[in-house]
Amino acid sequence: MTLENKLGITDAVELARVEEKLSKAQAHKLFTSGFLDTLEAGSFQALASIHQALFGEIYEFAGKVRQVNIAKGNFRFAPVMYLDAALKNIEAMPQTTFNEIIEKYGEMNIAHPFREGNGRSTRIWLDLILKKELKQVVDWQRVDKNDYLMAMERSPVKDIELKFLLQQALTDKIDNAEIYMKGIDASYYYEGYTLYRTEEL
Ligand SMILES: Nc1ncnc2c1ncn2[C@@H]1O[C@H](COP(=O)(O)OP(=O)(O)O)[C@@H](O)[C@H]1O
Ligand SMILES: [Mg+2]
Repeated sequence: MTLENKLGITDAVELARVEEKLSKAQAHKLFTSGFLDTLEAGSFQALASIHQALFGEIYEFAGKVRQVNIAKGNFRFAPVMYLDAALKNIEAMPQTTFNEIIEKYGEMNIAHPFREGNGRSTRIWLDLILKKELKQVVDWQRVDKNDYLMAMERSPVKDIELKFLLQQALTDKIDNAEIYMKGIDASYYYEGYTLYRTEEL
């Protein structure tokens, strides 16, 4: 079953292709327009704005807190009943040090506020916090897909692997378009989207 979408696409492969193309073009625009820099790093509103920008053309639920419970593997993300409260608590978490920022990111992953697109939007949100607070971002090209997904799966229990993995990929090239665009491509690759290059859209 394909996710209900604004474009009336019913074929899953076609939806994945169109979603990749349209949302990567939006990710490109987020950077070049300067819109990202207007967001309040670490707020839920910033994440919702990123999600809305990426997926607004495709899904009615873009930028909106989900109303269904979801799970991946054996992990159930925050129940809908507690989601608003969880998001308020996460927003209030400190973000001064690298460890605090990754802990906040891990909690946002546990919340998984949207129906789809949490991974891709929350990695942009994470970089926004790192950029503002530490003047660094993750160079996602240097984060291996399997290592990353395993570390994320493990992170609700223990986040040491995730911290180590992201720490070794930090860069101070925070305004570098190539690092950003290739980072988006890597982020999409983690989720199985590999047809388009962000810098060409
Ligand atoms: N078993 C798991 N436990 C915790 N987090 C997970 C698990 N599996 C995947 N994730 C996280 O969820 C993200 C995918 O969420 P999803 O909403 O599908 O986003 P996207 O549509 O961008 O892929 C992954 O990038 C990873 O960060
Ligand atoms: Mg997904």
